[in-house]
Amino acid sequence: VSDRQWILLNPGPANTSREVREALVTPDLCHREPEFFEVMRDCRERLVRLAEGGDGFAAVLFTGSGTAAVEAAVCSAVPADGGLLVVDNGVYGERLLRIARAHGIPTRALSYDVTTAARPDDVRAALRAEPQLTHVAVVHHETTTGVLNPVAEIVRAAAVEGRRVLVDAMSSLFGEPLDVTQDGIDFVMASASKCLQGYPASRSCWPAGARSMRCAAGRRGASIWISRTTTWRRSRTTRPSRPPCRCSTRCARR
Ligand SMILES: Cc1ncc(COP(=O)(O)O)c(C=O)c1O
Repeated sequence: VSDRQWILLNPGPANTSREVREALVTPDLCHREPEFFEVMRDCRERLVRLAEGGDGFAAVLFTGSGTAAVEAAVCSAVPADGGLLVVDNGVYGERLLRIARAHGIPTRALSYDVTTAARPDDVRAALRAEPQLTHVAVVHHETTTGVLNPVAEIVRAAAVEGRRVLVDAMSSLFGEPLDVTQDGIDFVMASASKCLQGYPASRSCWPAGARSMRCAAGRRGASIWISRTTTWRRSRTTRPSRPPCRCSTRCARR
């Protein structure tokens, strides 16, 4: 492993430590071996602990970029007869909109300019006006501008209206305070390679409440691979999808 170190000035992937880079050099290990299941189980449990999820929460490990995790949550969480209110005040809010529309989800945008944080009262008013909106999707930290949306207040407003919330915390989980157990949150999507300072190629994850796991029937037929439920079910069998093994084994043991 080279000692040469570039300082990355982009907002992720974050710099990794030598220890993390060294952990990637491991013997070959098949993803259908018991040793591998154990590493994955350990990794999922540690992520939940790190996110302070506690009992009843689960981390679903996902191979793919952050957008894959966001897309999986959106298409798994919103039921066939549901609708999504998307807070749109930046590049990643707009991406949420595009994902929802690509999956044919009835969607309403709550738009602001890129320097304005979302207002919980606006969320409340939009949900009251449109009862068919069952879920809210919001980016916690809009990475391109640094705007932090007041997620706790938005979730509170949505929960009072009986709605569930999906939080894209790709560049904030483990960096900014976020209570993933707050009542009203269904999924929190995050990345291994941002505040966690893991390896970019490894995976994205999201801690989710047990309730979400039961309710996330999703839009059937929308996708096989980009599906939180498929990934979660397979990850607990002896036939998990083939992850980038070398990226995860020793990293997870530390
Ligand atoms: C808040 C947020 N959401 C989603 C993404 C998409 O992640 P990716 O580029 O890994 O697909 C990013 C990437 O930086 C992000 O910052």
